[in-house]
Amino acid sequence: DNVERLATAVRNADTAVAFTGAGISAPSGVPTFRGDDGVWERFDQGQFAYGRFQRDPEGFWADRVDLQRAMFDGDFEPNAAHEALAAMERDGLLEAVLTQNTDGLHGDAAAAVGEGDDAGTDGDSDAPVAGEPTVLELHGNSQRVRCTDCGKRKDGDQIFDRAAGGELPPTCDCGGVFKPDVVLFGEQLPGAVLQRARSLARASDAFLAIGSSLVVEPAASLPRLAASTGATVGIVNLESTPCDDVAAAVVREDVTEALPRLRDLVRE
Ligand code: OAD
Repeated sequence: DNVERLATAVRNADTAVAFTGAGISAPSGVPTFRGDDGVWERFDQGQFAYGRFQRDPEGFWADRVDLQRAMFDGDFEPNAAHEALAAMERDGLLEAVLTQNTDGLHGDAAAAVGEGDDAGTDGDSDAPVAGEPTVLELHGNSQRVRCTDCGKRKDGDQIFDRAAGGELPPTCDCGGVFKPDVVLFGEQLPGAVLQRARSLARASDAFLAIGSSLVVEPAASLPRLAASTGATVGIVNLESTPCDDVAAAVVREDVTEALPRLRDLVRE
């Protein structure tokens, strides 16, 4: 089946890269952006544009507190799909995990599997050498804020609490306004991060696009870029995407079913 085909591609690849979107975190209880239950059905994207932040930081932050609650309410943890990717990355089977998600769950999963779990690597001298976990957050991290003046980053929780308590907009010790440490609409992706993502896509022999609608740049063009330089592209998504035509295998399954199975097959 198609998961087996992806497993073969990953096993044969010198460089395999995973690229994820909101669908991988949906089973953790983080809502997606598009689709019937998507946050863009309930919120107007324009409220969270960079221009709005610059023009009206007070109104932006008031709305952002609501969005943050809608997206990251309560406890949420990495699921079996995050863990499968983290384990493959740890074992040297994936070069990197690129994500559009700002929930921090790939980093949490990498930290969790990195600790003393030697499954899959024990006794096998041919196993690839695992390096530092490489998680590239293309859109930043919603659990952090950054001062627009001095550039200092801070844990987001307390700053969101301050904003919810009426400090609009919340400000840094230096007097600068805090901004969620994410890429807003109308804001450029950090150049170095984008370049790294593109060069990983180009260098990859296997490129897996997982749980993303693949309609927003650069997501929309990375699978095509990978395919154009010879990668076997795989897509894991419950629905069809505009990049299905470049995929050698499309897996129409829940990520928490497809990815643990992929990990097991790659290790065989
Ligand atoms: P979307 O919400 O656009 O797409 C999520 C995709 O995941 C959809 O194609 C679903 O079919 C799929 N999906 C949902 N649950 C799944 C599951 N359990 N298993 C497999 N697939 C599943 O999210 P993104 O593509 O990540 O940008 O959106 C891209 C960007 O648009 C986001 O990073 C955000 C947004 O505006 C910024 O915030 C800058």
